[in-house]
Amino acid sequence: MKMERRIAGIMYILITFALVNEMSINVQARDNNKRRAKEKVGGFQKNICDITDRDSKVHCYCENNRELRNATKAECWVFNGGIPRDDLIWQSFASQPTLQTLSFNVRVDGALGYVPTKALHYLQRLRSINIKYGNIVELTSFAFANLTNLKEATLSTNQIETIQQFAFAHLPNITSINLEDNMIIEIGTEAFYDLPKLEKLVLTKNNISSIKDGAFQRTFNLQELDLNKNNIFHLNRHTFDGLANLRKLDLRRNRINNLTEFTFAELWNLHELLLGKNELKFISERAFDGLSQLDKLSLDDNKLVALPSGWLEGARGLSTLDLRSNELYALTFDNIRPIFDNLKPQNSNLLLEENNFVCDCRLKWMHSLRNETKSQNTKASLDSVTCKMDPPVVSSAYNKLPDPIENKLDYNQDILHAGLTIETTLSKPNGTENYIEEQSNDITVTAKKGVKRNVLKMPPDSLPCPRETKKTTEMPQLMIDPVIPIQNEMKTYRFHDTNAATSAAIDILILWSSMLSFFFT
Ligand SMILES: *[C@@H]1O[C@H](CO)[C@@H](O)[C@H](O)[C@H]1NC(C)=O
Ligand SMILES: *[C@@H]1O[C@H](CO)[C@@H](O)[C@H](O)[C@H]1NC(C)=O
Ligand SMILES: *[C@@H]1O[C@H](CO)[C@@H](O)[C@H](O)[C@H]1NC(C)=O
Ligand SMILES: *[C@@H]1O[C@H](CO)[C@@H](O)[C@H](O)[C@H]1NC(C)=O
Ligand SMILES: *[C@@H]1O[C@H](CO)[C@@H](O)[C@H](O)[C@H]1NC(C)=O
Ligand SMILES: *[C@@H]1O[C@H](CO)[C@@H](O)[C@H](O)[C@H]1NC(C)=O
Ligand SMILES: *[C@@H]1O[C@H](CO)[C@@H](O)[C@H](O)[C@H]1NC(C)=O
Repeated sequence: MKMERRIAGIMYILITFALVNEMSINVQARDNNKRRAKEKVGGFQKNICDITDRDSKVHCYCENNRELRNATKAECWVFNGGIPRDDLIWQSFASQPTLQTLSFNVRVDGALGYVPTKALHYLQRLRSINIKYGNIVELTSFAFANLTNLKEATLSTNQIETIQQFAFAHLPNITSINLEDNMIIEIGTEAFYDLPKLEKLVLTKNNISSIKDGAFQRTFNLQELDLNKNNIFHLNRHTFDGLANLRKLDLRRNRINNLTEFTFAELWNLHELLLGKNELKFISERAFDGLSQLDKLSLDDNKLVALPSGWLEGARGLSTLDLRSNELYALTFDNIRPIFDNLKPQNSNLLLEENNFVCDCRLKWMHSLRNETKSQNTKASLDSVTCKMDPPVVSSAYNKLPDPIENKLDYNQDILHAGLTIETTLSKPNGTENYIEEQSNDITVTAKKGVKRNVLKMPPDSLPCPRETKKTTEMPQLMIDPVIPIQNEMKTYRFHDTNAATSAAIDILILWSSMLSFFFT
């Protein structure tokens, strides 16, 4: 009995002890929970892939793995605005240092007004960042935290107006930057700095009107530069400095009206130059100098009235040329001569519809090309090129044509008439809209003059030549570039390959200056 009571007493003590112990563990656990809740409010040390707090301004969905320090891809939604740049939420990205792909979808207007550089600091393995629909207005210096592994940055459809100096800087592995659909106004000199592997830069659909000289000098590996749909009206010989590896330059849908000499002279590797849908009226004879690799040039939908005769001397490799929808009144054989043979193979293209050609012997070469080319596109285009008998009406003063064309074109009326006769005896082509507008035979001479004819339906010998013939196959020199020594320098690009060009240029410059000093001293 005594023994039993003692055992019961010991049991009691043990049980009490166990209970007290259990209670203290519970209290500790409750404390832990409280602490964890606190962390959620503060943000620090929280796993960014596993945010349960409904009030959090950022929620991320992580593919692959949500374990701490193990996710490779995160897609984050930003719900509430006004997150300060140094908010603790950004430090939480330290919980997933192995992220390689990170994107932000901004769901509320004004919710994300900056690149979260504070978060990027922790993501040294990041390869791709994408921020869409934010309201980023300004990209600040070193916004991408000098990330060595970053390969792609996409910031399309934000409201970026300003790219500060060094905004994209020290990103040794970046190959592609997309800034499409923003409101960028200017490209400054060092906005893109030390990006040795950048291959593609998309600036489509912005409001760029100014590109500072040498703005792309620190992106020398760039192969594709897209400036489509901007507000650019002026380019000069230093705009594209340093882009010796560029292969494609898209300048469509801007407001460029004047291409001055050597604008593209640095672009030794350019294959494709797109200038369609601008307001081009004036092209310097040497605007395309240096483009020895150019295959494709588009100038459609501009306001070109005439082209200087040697304008393609620097782009002799061209095999696709689009001049549709301009106001060209002539295109001489001299204009086309440097590339004439390139226009014969099957995959070449010369597109000339919708111009204001005058029916005269300067268009004769179109017959030979139609005969010799294997390109279906070129044939089809030539077949629908039309011309009128009127002298051209040239409105813009600086493109005003000198005498021989405007006034002294004194057509032989017999030939002109012969053209008309032939015209009416030929059957009309099927479905060619602007082929001929005349309906009846009793039309006046003035009406005849406004009639559009198919160039190729007029036998080559019926194309009238102005009375003082000789010079008509050559265009008058509309512009004379004033900077003589550089012209000489550029001439060397035409006659030597590019490696030899620099030293040859220096030789010629020395020769030139010694000649000058000989003559003038
Ligand atoms: C992290 O992910 C790898 C594979 O992606 C897996 O083998 C490893 O177990 C994960 N580690 C943790 C702690 O979840
Ligand atoms: C990036 O590197 C530059 C030059 O080394 C340095 O001045 C700058 O502070 C760095 N920025 C960041 C965000 O790391
Ligand atoms: C570029 O990325 C590769 C592979 O991701 C890496 O090995 C290399 O170190 C990076 N280059 C630099 C300069 O960091
Ligand atoms: C584009 O920039 C010009 C200034 O160059 C400015 O006047 C204009 O309002 C801008 N357009 C838009 C749509 O922001
Ligand atoms: C085009 O540029 C040339 C050379 O800079 C200049 O002489 C000419 O006036 C310009 N024309 C127009 C219409 O801006
Ligand atoms: C077109 O080719 C035919 C036959 O090859 C030739 O007789 C004719 O003279 C050529 N016409 C022109 C305009 O070159
Ligand atoms: C003319 O066009 C119509 C329809 O486009 C087609 O049916 C017809 O065969 C064409 N005629 C000729 C001679 O090509």
